[in-house]
Amino acid sequence: MKFFIDTANLAQIKEAHDLGVLDGVTTNPSLMAKEGIKGEAAIIKHYEDICEIVDGDVSAEVLSTDFKSIIEEGKKLAAIHPNIVVKVPMIKDGVKAIKWFTDNGIRTNCTLVFSAGQAILAAKAGAAYVSPFIGRIDDTNWDGVELIAQIAQIYSLQGYKTEILAASIRSALHIVKCAEVGADVCTCPLESILGLLKHPLTDIGLAKFLEDAKKM
Ligand code: E4P
Repeated sequence: MKFFIDTANLAQIKEAHDLGVLDGVTTNPSLMAKEGIKGEAAIIKHYEDICEIVDGDVSAEVLSTDFKSIIEEGKKLAAIHPNIVVKVPMIKDGVKAIKWFTDNGIRTNCTLVFSAGQAILAAKAGAAYVSPFIGRIDDTNWDGVELIAQIAQIYSLQGYKTEILAASIRSALHIVKCAEVGADVCTCPLESILGLLKHPLTDIGLAKFLEDAKKM
């Protein structure tokens, strides 16, 4: 399973990259706004900066919602760097745009996916990635990981090539569960990636080794 970091914060992207386990980055309008990125020039510059740090796919989300504008915006985003993947919402014009991008050699990430039916449509349109939001599903008292498992089974049975990118990750446990049920990629906040490091027995064991090492 690949690890993407789910942020537009350059320091966090660098920290995850320096850990040596980072395969890519996902952003969304909320994450870009959080970093104070405003206006087309600043948006383009920020994606260039991210692509400088990480040699892997970087999802850049369109802000448009009608077919023609999604295509125009997506073409501009894709021109920034070969690693840019155009992130398109799961709406009717979004699906049409994903098909257009696929036919024209531009890779896409279909976002805001909350059901297996939506994931089937994304795959049929040729999306490179489908992003089910598991944390937001959990927030509604449904099981987000179960959706990943269902999509994984359908894609495997049907031979769909779209990669399942588990999004809206809230914890290290989410990452482990997504790996267990066959997600291709997990996009995570830095704290969830670092959460994988933690186990109290590791801390206790290391303290004991360091203590005993003084007797060596
Ligand atoms: C990433 O592609 C998604 O936009 C992101 O994971 C959504 O996460 P959230 O539900 O924590 O906002």
